Amino acid sequence: MAAPLRLGIAGLGTVGAEVVRLIESEGRTLAARCGRSVRVAAVTARSKAKKRGIDLAGIAWANSPLELANNPDIDCLVELVGGAGEPALSAIEAALKSGKSVVTANKALIAKHGVRLAQAAEKHGGALNFEAAVGAAIPVIKTLREGFAATGVNRVYGILNGTCNYILTRMEQEGLSFAECLKDAQRLGYAEADPSFDVDGHDTAQKLAILASLAFGTKVAERAVYVEGISSIAPEDLRAASDLGYRVKLLGVAVRTAKGIEQRVHPTMVPKSTSIAQVMGVTNAVTIDGEGIPPITLVGPGAGGAATASAVLADIADIARGVRVNPFGRPVDRLRVTEKAPMERHEGGYYIRLMARDLAGTAATIATRLAEQKISIESIVQRHPDGVDENGAAKKASPVPVILITYATSEDAVYRALQAVQRDKVISGRPQVIRIEKN
Ligand SMILES: NC(=O)c1ccc[n+]([C@@H]2O[C@H](COP(=O)([O-])OP(=O)(O)OC[C@H]3O[C@@H](n4cnc5c(N)ncnc54)[C@H](OP(=O)(O)O)[C@@H]3O)[C@@H](O)[C@H]2O)c1
Repeated sequence: MAAPLRLGIAGLGTVGAEVVRLIESEGRTLAARCGRSVRVAAVTARSKAKKRGIDLAGIAWANSPLELANNPDIDCLVELVGGAGEPALSAIEAALKSGKSVVTANKALIAKHGVRLAQAAEKHGGALNFEAAVGAAIPVIKTLREGFAATGVNRVYGILNGTCNYILTRMEQEGLSFAECLKDAQRLGYAEADPSFDVDGHDTAQKLAILASLAFGTKVAERAVYVEGISSIAPEDLRAASDLGYRVKLLGVAVRTAKGIEQRVHPTMVPKSTSIAQVMGVTNAVTIDGEGIPPITLVGPGAGGAATASAVLADIADIARGVRVNPFGRPVDRLRVTEKAPMERHEGGYYIRLMARDLAGTAATIATRLAEQKISIESIVQRHPDGVDENGAAKKASPVPVILITYATSEDAVYRALQAVQRDKVISGRPQVIRIEKN
């Protein structure tokens, strides 16, 4: 049997400790599959004294991720510290520059420095594997990079953040507010104390940027992603969506268009009949629309120690087997700069909820403003107002919720029409707008 693959593991938290545990429990299976054993040679974390429920006897301790990366007794650095910068960046760079391979679950770092790190891997011959960075246990990186090696991708989209999907699922099923569901998600450990990174869409954006690069052969560009979070979604939007045959999901969508590549993260209405609409709770899902083949949807756990460690181990297994694939599926000098499609020119259907003032001519004014922008209405629903008198009749002064679904139109046409409606003072408050993704 070949010499063991010697690992240096930086980070022994939720994922790192589970990786150590899995290597211990699955070591024989791994060795049988790879033709070579895998051994943890050295580790590091912030605290050496912390109790972690793992056996570190006989394993060297490094004082920093960088020291670990430079240890000549390891062949592969497993970076599970996290963060878009230090100390992860220098450690990974040092490991790659000395010809070692790297496995990481760090989406923030790959989204920001992926190209630079891929270049170092390519130059010095090591592997840079990051399957766990997107969708944890869902093998979506491998699917795009290897499964779609000879098949063009037109669109990749998915539910990439379990916290947001959990919140939207509870809001829909129980009619609760965003704030109530967020509080529960925090209590159950699905959301951080500062939830903004998740609920404002940035976590999804980092993952989407990585998927877009793999799908379209472009340099990973987090800044090219348009981002909107879920905090403005109200229970009445989910109710109206449901009545109209849709669900609302926070989707990351990367799509090739005639105007360039759109990368966007926003609450999205999807028909209830689609695979992605069936994905509830903290589960993640990614759909890939390949050229000439029906869409493929991968569904599974997108977070958690065990799920993430399973993907980390799969990456380690590839390195043990001697499999080395270009990190973004092609040599770095073949990756193109993303030609960003402007969001104003996005085309699709829209859900619009307006609080129409109970004035003569309101409906006609709204219809005129939409017609001026050549926006056609697929359906219109006037919902029962909140303010009703003792006989169940609408109070005269209460604004009336009006819900419109448009046929495909452009983003700037929708916003021009809504600005005109606001100037006309026939609605109160800000209109709610949710983009629709039909299939
Ligand atoms: N958790 C998930 O479900 C999940 C899913 C997908 C991807 N990921 C990614 O996996 C990575 C690790 O996540 P995690 O949830 O395991 O994080 P975590 O539980 O916070 O663990 C982080 C580990 O890094 C160590 N660390 C932090 N700063 C350090 C420093 N300056 N020097 C040395 N060690 C340091 C910590 O040491 P101490 O223990 O001593 O504090 C801890 O062991 C992140 O990139 C994350 O995005 C996580």
